[in-house]
Amino acid sequence: MTATSARLSREHAKEVLVSMDAAVGDARGRSARESMVKLLNSAVPTYSWVGIYAVEGKELVLDSWVGPAATEHTRIPIGKGVCGYAAKSGRTEIVSDVAKDPRYLQCFLSTRSEIVVPITRGGTVVGEIDIDSDQLDAFSSVDREFLEAVAKKASALWLA
Ligand code: SME
Repeated sequence: MTATSARLSREHAKEVLVSMDAAVGDARGRSARESMVKLLNSAVPTYSWVGIYAVEGKELVLDSWVGPAATEHTRIPIGKGVCGYAAKSGRTEIVSDVAKDPRYLQCFLSTRSEIVVPITRGGTVVGEIDIDSDQLDAFSSVDREFLEAVAKKASALWLA
């Protein structure tokens, strides 16, 4: 299998987005975010580790995650790492090869690429979706558009 053929397809992204409402159900706030990260990790094979960070003051604090191991980066200053950079700019970051990005803060030896998508409410970044892939160059514009739609859902359900 080539790296490209293992990426998320537009069709599958649509299916996962549709199944997300059922997966979240009546949940709000953190329990909604927990359902979201669980679904993303189980439904998309390239999403090896899926987490949501929440902005607290000048830091990102790990809120919900699913993956093979816990990360030591449970608090990240805004502006540090790929996560902190995306929180500061309010823009999605795709790192196709983490070994080549000097901003990258390592969590797992197996990670090869990463995507970070801010969650905004009323123009303010309140959190972000952070996904690590064990596959090099795992993320395309399909993942970006899909996860930006997921971030909108997370934003709408942000408060419990
Ligand atoms: N790699 C991230 C840190 C978070 S872990 O991937 C879970 C970064 O560079 O900000």
